[in-house]
Amino acid sequence: MNDMPYISDHYAPVAEEHTAHALTAHGTLPPELTGRYFRNGHNPKPGVVPTHWFKGAGMIHGLRLRDGNAEWYRNRWVRTPALDGAPFQRPDGSIDLTASVAGTHVIEHAGRILALQEANLPFEVTAELDTVGAYDFGGKLTTAMTAHPKEDPVTGELHFFAYSPFPPHLIYYVASAAGEIIRQVEVEGAGPSLMHDFAITENHVVWLDMSVVFDHAEQSGIPYRWHDDYAPRIGVMPRTGPATVTWYDVEPGALLHVANAYEDGAGRIHVEGPRFDRSAWEGSWKWWVGAPGHSEVPNAGAIQYRWILEPGTRRAKEELMDGLPTDFPTINDAVLGRRNRYSYAVTFPGGGLHRHAIVKYDNATGGRQLSELGANRVPGEAVFVAAEGGTAEDDGYLLTIVSDLEHHTSEFVVLDAHDVSAPPIATVELPHRVPGGIHGSWIADA
Ligand SMILES: [Fe+2]
Repeated sequence: MNDMPYISDHYAPVAEEHTAHALTAHGTLPPELTGRYFRNGHNPKPGVVPTHWFKGAGMIHGLRLRDGNAEWYRNRWVRTPALDGAPFQRPDGSIDLTASVAGTHVIEHAGRILALQEANLPFEVTAELDTVGAYDFGGKLTTAMTAHPKEDPVTGELHFFAYSPFPPHLIYYVASAAGEIIRQVEVEGAGPSLMHDFAITENHVVWLDMSVVFDHAEQSGIPYRWHDDYAPRIGVMPRTGPATVTWYDVEPGALLHVANAYEDGAGRIHVEGPRFDRSAWEGSWKWWVGAPGHSEVPNAGAIQYRWILEPGTRRAKEELMDGLPTDFPTINDAVLGRRNRYSYAVTFPGGGLHRHAIVKYDNATGGRQLSELGANRVPGEAVFVAAEGGTAEDDGYLLTIVSDLEHHTSEFVVLDAHDVSAPPIATVELPHRVPGGIHGSWIADA
């Protein structure tokens, strides 16, 4: 069992929590990067073999930067009941919303830092990565919460949702900039599909009700499978008013993540992100559960697509944007829900490129640019941080952790978002190897 791909090699968990101070940096850490880079991922305790990659206990790797110095690094498990073995489903069949692995994402909103995993309540952690406990918005959140909430860059509101195999399948929430839940509404007509992510635009919410659907037969602990007989749809709902959805038929497909969505001048909604077809989904799933015949890497071929939803048509227009297998798309969050020119993602070997890289897509030119981080070096999700006083959408930095598969070391890397192919602006040596992980955030000092 120990050769499960999600606990082997680059994904092998670390056995201990470390704290290190005054880390060695190379190049020049921009002094304006004063805050914390936190990155979550699945890191089961030694000896624990989860049934699915996404069932491994969450561990956050954190780096404190201040005035051009890397002051500390620490890695900490999120201390939830699940870390100590509490089951998601209690013996009486009820669900324990606090039994979260809390290993998918870590975000900051309204002064709280939350570790997220979509089947459970958020877990609050401190700025030093100690666990505070499950967080339910003062008792107002009585369901799970997605790991991909969206903060509106203009209002500061946090938009999120809960999805379920059972009705009501979908509940939409909005928390104010101060962190109070101010809207909670059941979404009409949603189905039992796996909804890892969604999108907001200036005036709308976009739902992905696509080909991966609740299925009792799936025994990995995440009961969803691809179903060709499920009618895949993308839904558009006004952000305010009745929770009535206009559904657009799409080709069979699935997304874990949306890069962005926005309204154009003609009232159409554009949705972009890495799309799985059936083969890419099922090949990736085999890796995620360690099934025979799995792919070499966790992404067996999701590729960048665009869906254009034209009011009155009820059918999406779909466009292939690029052929590289990618996931973990990111943007400058100042344009979240607004027309973006650039997006960034992690590439996986395939599509003619035999290595991992950070890719930058330019929607204005249709071009792409790839990072050159060296042989056997694997980056994770690239978090965009806008430069102080920046005016262009790509005036900023990309933050990621890069691991060297040959030397079993990791470093924190700062790339110039203008040119991801250039050598890093700065790197920080981390005290131990950081396993391949999931999502993270830059949390600037207030
Ligand atoms: Fe995700």
